[in-house]
Parts: sequence; C-alpha cells; structure tokens
Amino acid sequence: MRKQIVAGNWKMNNDLSQTGSLIDALKSKTQTSNAEVMVAPTFTNLYHAFEALKTVNIEVVAQNMHFAENGAYTGEISASMLKSVGIQTVILGHSERRAYFNETDELLAKKVDAALANNMRVIFCFGEELADRKSGNEETVVGNQIKNALFHLDASAFKNIVLAYEPVWAIGTGETASPEQAQDMHAFIRKTLSDKYGNEVANTVSILYGGSVKPANAQEIFSKPDVDGGLIGGAALNADDFFAIVNAF
Ligand code: PGA
Repeated sequence: MRKQIVAGNWKMNNDLSQTGSLIDALKSKTQTSNAEVMVAPTFTNLYHAFEALKTVNIEVVAQNMHFAENGAYTGEISASMLKSVGIQTVILGHSERRAYFNETDELLAKKVDAALANNMRVIFCFGEELADRKSGNEETVVGNQIKNALFHLDASAFKNIVLAYEPVWAIGTGETASPEQAQDMHAFIRKTLSDKYGNEVANTVSILYGGSVKPANAQEIFSKPDVDGGLIGGAALNADDFFAIVNAF
C-alpha cells in the first residue's frame, strides 16, 4: 500500500510571526483523510515550526539542502544541521531551484546521496517545461531527470524516496495538468521505475503531483490511480485551502 502524502511548500513566504499564525491555523483544523501531511517553511523558521508541530500529525520538512557535511559553503545548510533541529525529510530538485539556482541533475544526485546517507527522506521533484510538452518531449525529459539523479541508487534506497512530478508550466500559473495528463505521466514514471528496479519498488514509491493544486481540483487529481498525493505551493499558505486538499482523499 502506497502512502498518500500532501506536502505544503511555503517557498520564500512567511516571517517568524506569520509562520506562527499559519501554524496556529493549521493546528485548529481536523484531518479526515489518512494522508501524511507535511509543511516546508523557510530555513529560519524550521526549528520554531518543528517545536510547534511536534505534537500533531504534521511533519516539518526542508525546502533544500547542500550536499556537503560542513565547510566553506557560505550561505548553505547541511543534512546534519537540518537533523539537529528535528528535520527528517528534504525537498530536492524543485523547478525553482533548477531554474534560478542552476541545480543540475548531477548536483541533485549528490544532494540525494547526502540526504540518504544521513537517513533522511527525500521528496525529489522534476517536471518538463512548456516547450518540452509542446514538442512532445515530456516523457523523455522527465525520464532523464529521474535516471540522471536517481538511477545510481540501490533498490533499497527507494523506501526513503518520494517522487513529485511538477510540470513547470503548471507551477504558480493557475494552469493545472488535467487529471488525465497527470495520470499518464505518473504511469510513465512508475513504468520507468519498474523497468529499472522491478514492480515491487515501482508499486511502493509514492508519486505526488504538483502545480496549481487547489481545493477545487484536488479530489479529481487524487482520484487517479497513480497519483499518491500532492506538493502544494500557493494553496498551502492558507490553512483552510490546505486542509481542504489534505481531506480531498
Ligand atoms: P503551486 O506550486 O501549487 O503554487 O503551483 C507548486 C510547487 O511549486 O510545489
């Protein structure tokens, strides 16, 4: 049975006091689904969020990390630093990291290795750009992103990996992949995993969809057989909307 997961990526939003208000609002909500719930505040608010949410069923996760353990990497944060404030899961490879901070598949492979070596769980993001989809190359692009960053791993590593398919053209644009487009790509991703690692791995890895998921479309997207949850940006900044999505299963 695959885990259903709804993760809120707060991106570079919310200072300390806004983070506290959003957490209070989240804690007032009732979860009616069995989904695992996660939120990803900015680095400066991780410790506060971890402390504030440790008594409820909401895991606090990081949006990024560096691959090195420590050293002369000004401005960066390591896996052990995240773990020291209670963080067990990290989002890697978000399209904004790839586009604005030049994160390549090769770099992401190192980050994945570092997270797994620290016994952390990884939410690994990937997805094609609009031009790729227009030219019919979306499966090639997505297949390569997965192969280049993950296919050096042993099958056993995948128990700590969650995949998040996020078509770049659907992130923050209000344009969502249709439930059928999401399902088609998720089925392709599962087949890609199965071809390399076999059905057991492919059938146990959770694959999330991300890109303009809202309360109004979550249920239809989550009803697709290969969609195991969502990575939520904009709608995760509002507790009512976020919990409407969490409870859409
Ligand atoms: P969005 O962002 O829900 O605002 O489109 C999704 C994401 O970037 O993870």
